[in-house]
Amino acid sequence: MPASVDAAVRRAAEHSFPYSCDRATGELLAVLAAAVPPGGRILELGTGAGVGLAWIVHGLGGRTDVSVLSIEQDPVTAGIAEAGEWPAHVTVSIGDAVAVLPGLGRFDLVFADAEGGKWRGLPLTLRALADRGVLLLDDMDPQRYELPEHHRSIGAVRSTLAEDSGLVLVDLPVASGIIIATRRPSA
Ligand SMILES: C[S@@+](CC[C@H](N)C(=O)[O-])C[C@H]1O[C@@H](n2cnc3c(N)ncnc32)[C@H](O)[C@@H]1O
Repeated sequence: MPASVDAAVRRAAEHSFPYSCDRATGELLAVLAAAVPPGGRILELGTGAGVGLAWIVHGLGGRTDVSVLSIEQDPVTAGIAEAGEWPAHVTVSIGDAVAVLPGLGRFDLVFADAEGGKWRGLPLTLRALADRGVLLLDDMDPQRYELPEHHRSIGAVRSTLAEDSGLVLVDLPVASGIIIATRRPSA
């Protein structure tokens, strides 16, 4: 595991933050981040302790031609991530994803990993996807959940994605269940 990711995982453990993305999701994030074009923008909804963010930054390597914005609603949790050492082109911002999304513009890669912008307000996230932009959603495998409301939530996300005819989707039965969606360029 990259040392920067390892440090973020340790910070999460020290603060008993249990919701970080798993390794497979993180590696996928790194791969997708590496493909973002020069001048591109990456958005993470739900910074948590910064593990997903560390994978994104790892994927970018030393590149400074891509900006990364990560939004976290809880200031205490954001503080865990902010304790990390991030390059200048990475910003952790405190706020409610649903409230701020309409003013953020478009992004080339979005990791929607917060209640807001994923389970609630997903259409706002889809509107923030640039042409050829890629959205990554984890926790999409209903078999991992027992409660009917979780199944309903996953079903609602899947319906919202399926109704957007501009998206190309793949369902990956790995980790917690991953969906990747790419926004087809408008004609
Ligand atoms: C699953 S964790 C994020 C894990 C992180 N993305 C990672 O990969 O390590 C979800 C985070 O979203 C935050 N959150 C929940 N609702 C939010 C909202 N409406 N806007 C921004 N962040 C939110 C929670 O406080 C929590 O820290």
